[in-house]
Amino acid sequence: FSSFLTDNYSRQHNYLRISVTERCNLRCVYCMPEEGIELSPPEQNLTTAEIVYLSELFVKQGVTKIRLTGGEPTVRKDIVDLMRQIGDLRKDGLKELCITTNGISLHRKLDHMVESGLTGVNLSLDTLDPFQFTLMTRRNGHDAVMKSINRILEMNKLGANVKLKINCVVMKGLNEREIIPFVELGREKDIEVRFIEYMPFDGNKWSENKMVSYKEMLAMIEEKYPDVHRVQDHVNDTSKTYKIPGFAGRIGFITSMTHNFCGTCNRLRITSDGNLKVCLFGNAEVSLRDVLRESNSGKPFSLEAMEALRELESDRREGLNADTPIGTTEHESQLLNIIGA
Ligand code: GTP
Ligand code: 5AD
Ligand code: SF4
Repeated sequence: FSSFLTDNYSRQHNYLRISVTERCNLRCVYCMPEEGIELSPPEQNLTTAEIVYLSELFVKQGVTKIRLTGGEPTVRKDIVDLMRQIGDLRKDGLKELCITTNGISLHRKLDHMVESGLTGVNLSLDTLDPFQFTLMTRRNGHDAVMKSINRILEMNKLGANVKLKINCVVMKGLNEREIIPFVELGREKDIEVRFIEYMPFDGNKWSENKMVSYKEMLAMIEEKYPDVHRVQDHVNDTSKTYKIPGFAGRIGFITSMTHNFCGTCNRLRITSDGNLKVCLFGNAEVSLRDVLRESNSGKPFSLEAMEALRELESDRREGLNADTPIGTTEHESQLLNIIGA
């Protein structure tokens, strides 16, 4: 079955990201306005049973890695239970179960999550300074995030094996001077700190002069650590990985603005309201939720539908504009027919 999610470039689309809520308990300046975002009516969001059902379906089609994202996934009330149910899919071939979180309430839920099979935490943290944290996230909580980081390291010492990455969005004039302190975190600790180029998003008032490029960040690091060198990235990484000799951890760069990494992206995405997206930047979406809810049978997706999905993926990669409405190509209309949307 695993071949169903392989595209014409022999990339295996075996990595599924599921957004489990749009809500968040922080208001990072580069992501959300102070008043938050307009939320979809609750009935439009996937239920826990639906998320588990879709996860199972994709794992049975060859997905081996699932990442739960948000918003902030830990604000979903039943996140621990959801993770336990997805963790059960290890029996069907799930190998990695990860979460992308801001770490505010992770420390309270971590032990249960690790028991359920959590293998990776990507933790968003842009500053090591509590005051700067409040400026950048418009909320308090630096201590809580540090507590989560420490708890992960502690559990790893006790034998857990949770891969920890810190995502740090770098903004000019705000936290760029913290690049070196963040690099220092990896001296003793096995953490991968990934510096992210600030990207434009709806309404985040992006401007090029607030962005610090990969080249600039690397230059700052090279000045202090001339030995820093590029190492082999993991397969399908969207980041470029570096190491400093003698350091336990690694450094990465997510170069969304200056270097395109679509060629190694193997992610499929499901939004919290149940749409399948093939590209982060594309607006093209197709609703899995509607198919699930309209279907009376327990098994709405045929293998044929999965095959059509795969074709949809490769059509997109062959140069269609990501914003082209879904249904334009032959394969897409075939897909829409099969799933009855
Ligand atoms: P792993 O590789 O599994 O560690 O996760 P990840 O880096 O894909 O996920 P994470 O949630 O930690 O996201 C890190 C950053 O990568 C975020 O800024 C995302 O917006 C960005 N990102 C993730 N996937 C893509 C993608 O396909 N395209 C682009 N441009 N950015 C992406
Ligand atoms: N630019 C770059 N990264 C962003 N993230 C959120 N908004 C932006 C943006 N405008 C990051 C978060 C988190 C990851 C999933 O995406 O910091 O670490
Ligand atoms: Fe956005 Fe993540 Fe910050 Fe929440 S923690 S506001 S989702 S970047």
